[in-house]
Parts: sequence; structure tokens; C-alpha cells
Amino acid sequence: MAVNNVVHVNECGLPLNAIEWLVKHHQSKAQERGQMIRDLQLKQGSFVVDAGCGPGLWTPLLAQAIGANGNILGIDISTEALVTAQRRSSDTWYSHYVQYKRAALERLPIDYGEADLIFSANVSQYLPDPVATFASMAPYLKQGGRIAIKDIDFGEMHFHGIDAGLQARVFQARERWEWDRIQQGYAYEDSWVGSKLAGYLRAAGFKDVEEKTYRIERRFPLVPNFRFYLQGIAEWFVCEGAPYLSREDMNAWLHCFQSGTCNVMDQEDFMSEETEYVVIGHWDVSRPRYYSDMHIDNARLNHLDS
Ligand SMILES: C[S@@+](CC[C@H](N)C(=O)[O-])C[C@H]1O[C@@H](n2cnc3c(N)ncnc32)[C@H](O)[C@@H]1O
Repeated sequence: MAVNNVVHVNECGLPLNAIEWLVKHHQSKAQERGQMIRDLQLKQGSFVVDAGCGPGLWTPLLAQAIGANGNILGIDISTEALVTAQRRSSDTWYSHYVQYKRAALERLPIDYGEADLIFSANVSQYLPDPVATFASMAPYLKQGGRIAIKDIDFGEMHFHGIDAGLQARVFQARERWEWDRIQQGYAYEDSWVGSKLAGYLRAAGFKDVEEKTYRIERRFPLVPNFRFYLQGIAEWFVCEGAPYLSREDMNAWLHCFQSGTCNVMDQEDFMSEETEYVVIGHWDVSRPRYYSDMHIDNARLNHLDS
């Protein structure tokens, strides 16, 4: 059975994953994602901005890391996402740690020099000019504050048990389509962003940039959440008609993940491998800015403020 409507366009025009899929995806990687936050070694009492917080899935992990005197501000341009985040956190142990506000990454609703950490997960893939956006967030950090950007990279995804040629053609077709779709008026999307993040943060003026990679391997038998996530990913690869893939390859690919009788995920040799990136940059307020925020679309941001 297909994971219907895994990709939808939210009210901001972004091609995002359905909330149910995002939640199951998050749960199925709970172990690695918990480790990502622990590895940030946040100080108790820190003030963290969760930039592009979506439905607030990272809030409990961040709340645990900053302790009772810490604070989290979750911001997002999508009201739909913020309403979900607010609903999910109400009546939870962490509800008093967090506030959610509508804002863009490029214009945070706090003063310059306030945040200990700006954390942003699975958002950089949608940024048309990531260097400009990261540079515009930097002044909101305290002296010595950090930015931590977490994202995916489909270049490091492999499925054992699927013909290697078919996988290569599907990945190449998707990558080509992501580049061409911008010209065709779709919102920006780069699912190969993870390995580019360190370069982007350096170009944005951050120093001592550290790249951490998290290998995510799952073997047969898959837990239901991970299976649901993979089925969604497989559909995402060939969504929007997959213009650079033959009909034959598209059907063969979907058959691998949707078949009731010979689904690859039910084969004993099945294994899924991927790598997620967390890239951390340190901010030194005395450092000259390399990149000004003049590239940011101020008209769009003013519209958000209104
Ligand atoms: C794939 S979701 C990720 C949500 C969450 N961080 C997570 O990992 O579950 C991406 C989110 O980024 C938000 N977003 C994209 N561009 C943004 C921008 N420039 N400013 C603020 N939010 C943005 C979208 O509205 C969406 O909720």
C-alpha cells in the first residue's frame, strides 16, 4: 500500500513532507537524533532557537539538553506547522521551555547577540541561498555562540537488495530534476545538501566549522515506522512525474517498495544505509562579515512581519 500524499505543498508554497510522515521518520531515527543533540553538549540554561521548527519534533530533545533554566524559541514561516507544534507541546513536561513564533530564518524575532545556539534541522535543503541565510542568522548569536545545521544527503543513501543500475538511474534522475525544477517555478530543493553545509557555513563567516556524520543503517526485519519512512522516501524520489526516468524504471522502483508479495523491504538481505549531517559553526562577533544580508529578499520578509 502506498504512503499516500507524503509530499504536499504547505501554505508557504514549500514542497514538504506530510506531518504523519515527518513524525514517523523522526521516531524511526530517535536513537541517532538523540545522539545528535547530546553531541552538541549544550550548557544547562542555554537559549536555543529552533529555526524552521516545523511541528516541533526536536523540542523535547533540546529541552532535555538545556535543563530547567533553559529556553527554546521555535520559529517557522508556516502557521500550519506552528499550530501543530503548539498543539503537540501543550500539556507536556517541556511545554514551559518553549515558545513558538512565526518568523523567517533570515529575520529572527530576537535581539542581536541573544542566542547560545541556533539549531536548524531539515530546512537548509529548501534555502535558495543558504550562505546568505546563514550569514543573516549569525548576528543573533552571542559571542562564541554556535549554529548547528542538520540535514540529509541522498548521495550517501543505498539500498541492498535493489538492482544497483536502477538505484543509480533513480538517484541521477531525481538530482537532475531538483536542479531543473527551479527554472520551472517549483520551490527550491536540494536533497544533496548535507555534504555542502560545511562549505556554506565557512562562506557565511563562521569559524572552526565541525562536520559530524551519523550513519543510519537498518536491516530486515524493519520496524513499522522505518518501513513507512522508506516507502515515503521511495515515492518522493519519483514524485512530480519523474521527468528524467523511464516509465519502466519508475514502475520497477515503486514495485520494489510497494509490492505486497515481493517487496524488497521484506527480503532477508534488505538493508538501508544513509548518512545525516550535523554541521556546527562558531560565531565570533569581532570577525568581519564576509557576506552581507543584502541578498536577502527584504520585501518577502516585510510581508511576513505584516
Ligand atoms: C522538512 S520541515 C523540517 C521541520 C523540523 N525542523 C524537523 O526537522 O522536523 C522544514 C520546515 O522549514 C520551514 N522553513 C523553510 N524555509 C524557511 C525559512 N526561510 N524561514 C523559516 N522557516 C522555514 C518550513 O515551513 C518547514 O516547516
